[in-house]
Amino acid sequence: MKKEFITASDDQTIDLGRELAREMRPPLLILLIGDLGAGKTTLAKGIAAGLQAAREEDVTSPSFTLVHEYRQGPFPVYHVDLYRLEDAREVATLGLEDLWSDERPAIILIEWGEKLGPPLPGPRWDIRIEDLGDDRRKFTVEERITTDEHGLNR
Ligand SMILES: Nc1ncnc2c1ncn2[C@@H]1O[C@H](COP(=O)(O)OP(=O)(O)OP(=O)(O)O)[C@@H](O)[C@H]1O
Ligand SMILES: [Mg+2]
Repeated sequence: MKKEFITASDDQTIDLGRELAREMRPPLLILLIGDLGAGKTTLAKGIAAGLQAAREEDVTSPSFTLVHEYRQGPFPVYHVDLYRLEDAREVATLGLEDLWSDERPAIILIEWGEKLGPPLPGPRWDIRIEDLGDDRRKFTVEERITTDEHGLNR
């Protein structure tokens, strides 16, 4: 299923994130895909706040620490930024699969998610963000399932 949304300000993008969060259940991997400044972190703020995992102001870009964990809510929410990593092999050293356990289902948000290579198995949303000029952004949300660790059925 593919859905499209357009926002015209960062506040509207945060509201969209809160709205999308209402449909999210763990385990879920969310790939945030879009250029520099597209609005990935802004959308993540709305999602993490909507999931009651963190306050908006506590959701910032994990570009140096690579992974943030927001644990105020009923399940853990992880926020990852792969921008600084060079390739899928380096991404593999992060051990993202360890965040992903049957006992403790989580929601994992990944900025620059397209660098992930084979995504973790399980349900996944791909969210693509396009800059339409000025403050307008287009969000395309696709629900997918990765059936095994090789990323088949992408
Ligand atoms: N409709 C909009 N939605 C989101 N952000 C917007 C919008 N219009 C303008 N902006 C601005 O665009 C920037 C988006 O920044 P944000 O950090 O969310 O992007 P990002 O995709 O995470 O960037 P990076 O690749 O550096 O991680 C902010 O400066 C924000 O104010
Ligand atoms: Mg960002």
